[in-house]
Amino acid sequence: MTQQRTPFVGGNWKMNTNASQGISLIDALQDGLKGDLVEVTVYPPFVYLREIAARCEGSDMLIGAQDCWHEPCGAFTGEISTGMLKDCPVQSVLTGHSERRHVIGETDELVNLKTKAALADGLVTVLCVGETLEQRENGQTDAVNESQIRAGLAGVGKDELDKVVIAYEPVWAIGTGKTATPDDAQDAHANIRALIAQMYDQRASEAIRIIYGGSMKPGNANELMAMPDIDGGLIGGASLTAEDFLAIVQAGATQAV
Ligand code: PGA
Repeated sequence: MTQQRTPFVGGNWKMNTNASQGISLIDALQDGLKGDLVEVTVYPPFVYLREIAARCEGSDMLIGAQDCWHEPCGAFTGEISTGMLKDCPVQSVLTGHSERRHVIGETDELVNLKTKAALADGLVTVLCVGETLEQRENGQTDAVNESQIRAGLAGVGKDELDKVVIAYEPVWAIGTGKTATPDDAQDAHANIRALIAQMYDQRASEAIRIIYGGSMKPGNANELMAMPDIDGGLIGGASLTAEDFLAIVQAGATQAV
């Protein structure tokens, strides 16, 4: 990656940890984090956000939510608004994670509404995109990324883009132990960056962080993040072990200096 972009490493805990495991993990991460070369954000389950945010007060680590709802309040049983998230307080949110799209059934339109609501509330919004195995085998990787990004960012102005991070997460690589090769991931990232130049402008495309997700771990983080257009990672499984997650953050820091 280039030095102008601060690496971003996110830990998506998904529906893992209980209260005490979450606290132990966050404490271990805070103890182990050194320096601020990398923007580190963890995404615990909703119910632990408040307690974890309180424990992280004053630390460089940011706290985020794995999802949000796009209306500010009302009859949306079970949903959590961006205003409620800010109350915790959290600073970031994931939108369009592949498990939300493919397991829960979220559409591009819903992902767009959530993305716009999160940005309107000033949250750093990590828009997740990526192709399924079938789409990859049919040569549709770039087309899928393009349509998910165009739809996800519809109505998002250039002035809001500094709060947007794009996570390229090939669905077939998430939680499977399979990782895109650094060259394949770099190709997808470079095409996403070119798309942002088309949709906005060159400056925006050079500034936006595009991170990779899908079985990133200490053993492959360095070579992935060494690619010019890979600005960090969104980490699932390996974010549940402090040692592994800190090693990935360290890989990001190496690229920043
Ligand atoms: P993984 O998950 O690292 O377990 O593949 C990544 C993600 O879903 O964000």
